[in-house]
Amino acid sequence: MIEVGGDGRIWLLSGPTSSYALMLTERDELLHLHWGPRIALADAEALAVQPEPAASGFESPLDGREEYPVEGGPRFVRPALSVRTPEVRGTEWRFAQAVQDDGVLKLGFTDDVHGLRITLRYAMRGDVVERDVELVHEGEGPAVEILRADSAAWTLPERDAWRLTQLHGRWAAESRIEQVPLAYGEHVIGSRRGHTGHQYLPWVALDADGAGEEQGEVYSCALGWSGAWRIAVQKLPRGLVQLTGGTGHDDSGQVLLAPGRSWRTPVFAGLWSDGGFGGASRAWHAYQMEHVIPDADRVRPVLFNSWEATGFDISAPQQLELARRAAEMGVELFVVDDAWFGARVGDRAGLGDWAPNPDRFPGGLKPLADDVHALGMQFGIWVEPEMVNADSDLYRSHPDWVQHHPGRTRTEFRHQLVLNLAREDVQEYLWEQLHTLLSSAPIDYVKWDFNRCFTDAGWPGEAYPQKLWNEHVHAFYRLLDRLRATHPGVAFESCSGGGGRIDLGVLSRTDQVWTSDNTDPLDRLGIQHGFTHVHPARVMAAWVTDSPNVQLNGRVSSLRFRFVSAMAGVLGVGGDLAAWTRQELDEARSWVALYKEIRDTVQLGELHRLRAPRGGLSAVQYVRGDEVVVLAWLQAQRYGEPVARVRLHGIAADASYELLGTDEVHRGSVLLHHGLRTGLKGDFDAGVYRFRRVRP
Ligand code: DGJ
Repeated sequence: MIEVGGDGRIWLLSGPTSSYALMLTERDELLHLHWGPRIALADAEALAVQPEPAASGFESPLDGREEYPVEGGPRFVRPALSVRTPEVRGTEWRFAQAVQDDGVLKLGFTDDVHGLRITLRYAMRGDVVERDVELVHEGEGPAVEILRADSAAWTLPERDAWRLTQLHGRWAAESRIEQVPLAYGEHVIGSRRGHTGHQYLPWVALDADGAGEEQGEVYSCALGWSGAWRIAVQKLPRGLVQLTGGTGHDDSGQVLLAPGRSWRTPVFAGLWSDGGFGGASRAWHAYQMEHVIPDADRVRPVLFNSWEATGFDISAPQQLELARRAAEMGVELFVVDDAWFGARVGDRAGLGDWAPNPDRFPGGLKPLADDVHALGMQFGIWVEPEMVNADSDLYRSHPDWVQHHPGRTRTEFRHQLVLNLAREDVQEYLWEQLHTLLSSAPIDYVKWDFNRCFTDAGWPGEAYPQKLWNEHVHAFYRLLDRLRATHPGVAFESCSGGGGRIDLGVLSRTDQVWTSDNTDPLDRLGIQHGFTHVHPARVMAAWVTDSPNVQLNGRVSSLRFRFVSAMAGVLGVGGDLAAWTRQELDEARSWVALYKEIRDTVQLGELHRLRAPRGGLSAVQYVRGDEVVVLAWLQAQRYGEPVARVRLHGIAADASYELLGTDEVHRGSVLLHHGLRTGLKGDFDAGVYRFRRVRP
């Protein structure tokens, strides 16, 4: 809901529990008024007339109060918008108009010197405020260079001290929670890598009064962009806090706007919640399920992926044998990972040549895909379209198609180079290759990987090569969108060496994400714990792999522990089934069957993190209607002490709950206040507890 007051100069956007308000002064300054609990228009109007403390001659009266601080004039904060022409740098705007369009508030401003129209957009989706900015060059003068155009600046209310929460990591160790007091100055996170990066999820949260899992105010913001990005949290001299965020890190988001051209930033979404980090997560999940993830109400199938089982050493008969075992286990989607194409028998060759390897798949992919379908499963494949090995037909024919600077080394990581997707010929090549591939066999699923960062982002011959940073991402999005539109039955997974490309932008055009290359079930609990602070279980892919763990650490864990860990999201299996014993295969079959029974609740229900994985007992709960599922893991029982009870959350105190598979009936109030005895003991134990509300 959007309300307008203050003679048309105050706007109040409200969701079910929160409001966001802003005002325009007579000097056309756009000031922030409120972001927090739901208020009335009269409250916003009252806030608008409150006097601000006088600023000294060394402080700006605007800093920390503006909705979108531009560079220029009396401002010293980090600008959200920085533009220049050869002669004039900065922005001075006049208010043009406010328009409401299908629940979106658009506030338009013009800078006549640059001929620039600047439109700030606001939309309330539940309690999430979506913001972005559009810049249009309406003049006839020189092109305007956009040095930085953040998607939004967010202003927090005055509090004594703020704490910052972020999700940091690296390859195979993504999404780990870190909390630090916010110091004066600027705290900057982001990616200079051309993709979202493993180092941070593009999300931050701030709380001032020690918010916990289920109580306290939390402000959080998430960016929808899959390239280089930056979020800066600033604590200003008077203690005011503002966050800005958008594409590009240092100078990697620049755009040259010629007359008649426009540029629109990605969405930077913000959420206020007073339900602690758990309440904030559930609101983020609900927002993504309703407004971001395609077909979110459709549950994802149980998949098998061949990567950890067979690596680069694959053949059609060997994959079929794995597929038979997977089908017996109840797997619904069989995915052949890397090494099915070109000369890809290792990581040194073949990337770029997206035709099946004739030695490995003499009849192409169709015979295997047909066999997999005959086994009752869907068929999927792995691709990494944005990359090329120097040892490939593609690179031999088009060495100029990669990002590079003339006369400089072409840096290789994993023996590969990055294609310059900003080039139209590269875009067309990839479209042809992928469209042909998806038309050549009944392929239901594509795992789209991205295994190295940008390093030599040059574009010889192009007058404004730095546009490559943003245009790569747009070309990637367009390619995905076009493939999805042309092959509507195909689901896509976003992967980047695990969780290197997870953000609201890629999630709006993919069906799930590969959370991490770390499939160790214990490490994974920590990664999943962080991940669910932003994204829902419905997109969080997880595989059961071999013990000892092959990929990372050699840790030995029970099949039970591995399954229950992977059942917390979209279950997959990635072990070498050819080496599994009959007993393991049988046990796995019963876990897959159990997962299918709880899948709707896990993937579509509300997620409650009951106990964080910190060494002892941890647990996650999912609630959907009358169904309640608790997954619990005991890493280690120590000193013979009894294992803690697990207190449930988000169920009715005055209801009774049947514990399925037993004859026990539990009172909601007891489960909430005293908790459930899990019966777990020893090390690496785990359990699944299914409750159903008893209706009288
Ligand atoms: C990195 C991915 O994260 C893995 O799952 C696997 O697909 C490999 N790439 C294949 O090269």
